[in-house]
Amino acid sequence: MRRVQVGEHIVGKFAAKTIYGAKGQAPLVRRGARIRATMVGALLRRGVEGIWITDELFPELEVQEAVRQEAVDVTRRCLGDIFKAARGSTEPTQAQALRLATAIRNLVDEIVQNDDVVANVSHLRAWDNYTFEHSVQVAILSVLVGKHLMMTEDQLVRLGTGAVLHDVGKVMVPQDILQKPSRLTAEEFEIVKQHPRLGWDLVHEGFQNIMPTSSIVVLQHHERLDGSGYPSQLRGDEIYVFSRVVAAADVFDAVRAERNYRPLYTPRRVLQIMQEEAGAKLDASAVQALLQHVAIIPVGEIVRLTNGLLGAVTDLNSGDPLQPVVTVVADDRDMPIERERIDLRGTPLQVDQVLNEWPPGFEQRAREFLHSGT
Ligand SMILES: [Fe+2]
Repeated sequence: MRRVQVGEHIVGKFAAKTIYGAKGQAPLVRRGARIRATMVGALLRRGVEGIWITDELFPELEVQEAVRQEAVDVTRRCLGDIFKAARGSTEPTQAQALRLATAIRNLVDEIVQNDDVVANVSHLRAWDNYTFEHSVQVAILSVLVGKHLMMTEDQLVRLGTGAVLHDVGKVMVPQDILQKPSRLTAEEFEIVKQHPRLGWDLVHEGFQNIMPTSSIVVLQHHERLDGSGYPSQLRGDEIYVFSRVVAAADVFDAVRAERNYRPLYTPRRVLQIMQEEAGAKLDASAVQALLQHVAIIPVGEIVRLTNGLLGAVTDLNSGDPLQPVVTVVADDRDMPIERERIDLRGTPLQVDQVLNEWPPGFEQRAREFLHSGT
């Protein structure tokens, strides 16, 4: 199974996990169901951007995520209500903030109990500039980092709450700027740069029961250690520790994704960017915790190795983010080969590229190869 963007291209695939909708209602998609076009519409209307599908070539591959899908769904729904209130379409209520806090507490409980050395946090490769998917991802990544920085559970809840709300101010930034398919002009960037303060005001005015140590993250998540961030050009310890953790998680999730103004970075480039930013702009211990404890290339991803072979990640290796265990299924010309499990650790091989999908026609060729028994 692997996590993919919700869209027309998933019609006909099989859902590998149940996606829950509103509380007390039937799930939007049940595990094992074949996805129909109407389901895609329903998912998108409910703000579900990603879904787990069963990979035809690896039907047996199960992925153990750091947080269960249900807890992710609940958090996304609570956040959705808060974003609606932030947009002014509903009245903000303290009950919404309390529900969000409960969702985050559940998320923290799961992360605290998870004893994987390297956590699998599958993500979407493409997301718009403000999205529930990205916000929930940043919360999960931040809590994972906080756990490895030995924060208490109460601290983790406050950290996670700030993290999930970090971009709430973007609801006030015009859509055409956020979704612009090219780099922003200086003026447009000035407008985007207002979102931390706008978000902070919003949380303060609308949700007074959110702790100041959470809301400070909304204000400070774009500050950088060297003073190059915004809105206040704070430096080093002037930036609160929660904000430093969320900044690292936010950048990590952003560099792993494809953006509308640049293609997907290779895993090697992701690692390099994080290492370059560590200590200079981003908190070194937060970055280190991320790189040590979160998979850069999660299980289930389709990958091309440096020798051209094609396969899927089937296991992780701690300490070797570019060298997981890969089961190869095709040669460098995308022709099916006898599948082989290769532990890249200790070999000169690395993952060179992460692919969105199997190459065109490959699944058909692989089926024929399997049936021919050669
Ligand atoms: Fe932001």
